[in-house]
Amino acid sequence: MASLGVNIDHIANVRQARRTTEPDPVVLALLAELGGADGITIHLREDRRHIQDRDLELLRKTVSSRLNLEMAPTPEMVQISKKVRPDMVTLVPERREEITTEGGLDVARNEMFFKEVVGEIQSIGIPVSLFIDPIHEQLQASHNVGASWVELHTGSYAQAKWTSQAIELAKLQEATAEARCLGLRVNAGHGLTYQNVEAVAAIEGIEELNIGHTIISRAIATGLEKAVKEMKLLVVTPRKETLFAGYQSQGL
Ligand code: PXP
Repeated sequence: MASLGVNIDHIANVRQARRTTEPDPVVLALLAELGGADGITIHLREDRRHIQDRDLELLRKTVSSRLNLEMAPTPEMVQISKKVRPDMVTLVPERREEITTEGGLDVARNEMFFKEVVGEIQSIGIPVSLFIDPIHEQLQASHNVGASWVELHTGSYAQAKWTSQAIELAKLQEATAEARCLGLRVNAGHGLTYQNVEAVAAIEGIEELNIGHTIISRAIATGLEKAVKEMKLLVVTPRKETLFAGYQSQGL
């Protein structure tokens, strides 16, 4: 049975839209854990567009399940991961203009590079997962560079029309089986939703699914009515007494 890693980047996206303090991904990660998250995933991007260094440092202290840090394989991020020591590092490709992570890593064409980065992080006891497309050459290369895990990119499956979804699902099934034969442990994620998750969750050998966008979307949908009711109550029945009255009467 697969476990669930909840990606909370979108909470930080809302906060950063106003450069304010709410919603706080550190606080809400605890609610995700209360809901049954087996792990919390965050992506610290080079441009810091959502998750901030402060979030990573605090989450390292507060997450009691598992903290999975997604990051680009850059010298800056390698140093940060070695300092903060998440429970797992997932290396992902990163382009400044992209809306979200697009495509998997090209490990096959850069084996020497990945061998060095993976080795450096794993040498201090942090397992590294490589986010790759579910294809033979990337699986073989991930094994060659010594990664403990791969995360299979489920985007093509998630975006497939129903006529080709079975083909994309079969690619994920075959890639999982091949990865296990190579001794790799397997996670998967990207684009999974309440509608399409079950077929992937049922694949034998996948250990964890990392899911973000659809869960945060659902949280907004299920929480909006209550949030509006709470605000409406304050608007129609405001407190009559002046706040800070004591200070005012003392001339403060
Ligand atoms: N896995 C990886 C490597 C990702 O980059 C992302 C998106 O940040 C996810 C999983 C989660 O994708 P989604 O938000 O579409 O569920």
